[in-house]
Amino acid sequence: MKIAILVGSTRPGRKGSAVGQWVYDAARQRDDADFELVEIDDYHLPLLDEPVDAGAAQRDYERESTRVWSRVVDGFDGFVWVTPEYNHGVPAAMKNAVDLLYPEWNQKVAGFVGYGFDGATRAIEQWRGILAAVVMYTVRPQVVLHNFGDWTDGEFTPGERRAGELKRVLDHVVKTTRAIRTLRE
Ligand SMILES: Cc1cc2nc3c(=O)[nH]c(=O)nc-3n(C[C@H](O)[C@H](O)[C@H](O)COP(=O)(O)O)c2cc1C
Repeated sequence: MKIAILVGSTRPGRKGSAVGQWVYDAARQRDDADFELVEIDDYHLPLLDEPVDAGAAQRDYERESTRVWSRVVDGFDGFVWVTPEYNHGVPAAMKNAVDLLYPEWNQKVAGFVGYGFDGATRAIEQWRGILAAVVMYTVRPQVVLHNFGDWTDGEFTPGERRAGELKRVLDHVVKTTRAIRTLRE
């Protein structure tokens, strides 16, 4: 069972990389799944540039960038969605990364680690609806990291409660992924 920790910010100097690394460091101690850190920014995804929408394309994409991204997402059974919140919504680059594909997301699981001034709770709520549209299942526990409180002088310094909250997210992602994966068999 392979689970990606998906860092959704593509902003130079992003906070997201430190958050993703923190999730990965905790996840890789576990022996109930394999975890990998994936930065969306590494794939330089253009704004949706496929002539046929992914729901209809049946993985027969025109752009090499989409084909590469398709293989990456196909390689995972579940995801930890590391998401910032921009203007009270989901980050556009991460939404674009979702929109480029469709079957690759189907019958897979996501758990959320959000961060922002209000913990990105608005973005997470939006994600729950968006991911349902690509037939993904989201778990209830979430980590909401606060710009004031979980960072000190620009350094990521997660509060004491956070490790336990993250464990709960990972527990739920792993057990739900195990169950949901049977739907794809
Ligand atoms: C365009 C933009 C809009 C933002 N809007 C919000 C917001 O609505 N809510 C929030 O909590 N933080 C907001 N922020 C602040 C982010 O929480 C903060 O910049 C954080 O570092 C973004 O994550 P990143 O560094 O991984 O890109 C915004 C930042 C940017 C760049």
